[in-house]
Amino acid sequence: MRVIIVPTREALGELAGKLLIARIAANPRIVLGVATGSTPEPLYAQLRKAYDDGTISLEQAHAFALDEYVGLAEDHPEGYRNVLRRELVGSTGLKEENLHTPNGHSDDPRAAAEEYEAAIAAFGGVDVQILGIGANGHIGFNEPYGSLNSRTRMAALTEKTRADNARFFDNSIDNVPTHCLTQGLGTIATSKSALLLANGKNKAEAVAALVQGPVTAQWPASVLQFHEDVTVIVDEDAASLLEMSDLFERVQP
Ligand code: GLP
Repeated sequence: MRVIIVPTREALGELAGKLLIARIAANPRIVLGVATGSTPEPLYAQLRKAYDDGTISLEQAHAFALDEYVGLAEDHPEGYRNVLRRELVGSTGLKEENLHTPNGHSDDPRAAAEEYEAAIAAFGGVDVQILGIGANGHIGFNEPYGSLNSRTRMAALTEKTRADNARFFDNSIDNVPTHCLTQGLGTIATSKSALLLANGKNKAEAVAALVQGPVTAQWPASVLQFHEDVTVIVDEDAASLLEMSDLFERVQP
């Protein structure tokens, strides 16, 4: 696991942008795994900028979302397909038909989950998986105490995650869906490389558990310690509970 500490959230976006843009330039047919949440927003802004100035295009690329809420109206602005559409489709060259998201509207969520898992497998796993992390250590929507080898499935959201995400739903937890479809930890493990980003003090405990804690279902992201190619980029606040943090790379992009 390569851990890089940067001074600010802006620097996080810039450095992650540099790393990802190089990967896309080297392989325009790249299969990306894309996270939602506020953390990757500065990274997506970098991709749009690089598309505007002609450095890269995602026209031939595919993107697979990590997860989707179950039961939101199809045109709900916070549905993850709609979020990713706004962030990436067209503005980075990504085509609508190459944006893959689990079908949270299906009458048969179990079948929808299996289809999604199969679609990722058909590409042999994603090339670069972008990840954020929940304050309770979740990645995708893999909440604590699930299987470390889970596959795409319907899952319940914890009160903590629903409270954290209420800010996207008029600050009311009651508006936040109770269930989701999410890639499993075992699905995420099939990615060829992963880029996890975190900023802010509220992520510090989860980052310490991810990087230095025991591998445990209590902190789902800790399973990434087994991944062969993970880069973790965090700002100083999110790094604040790491032991011996002077040992880690510090980069000022
Ligand atoms: C959300 C998403 C995750 C994301 C996490 C953190 O609920 N399902 O993919 O990484 O929670 O979100 P944020 O970056 O807004 O803190």
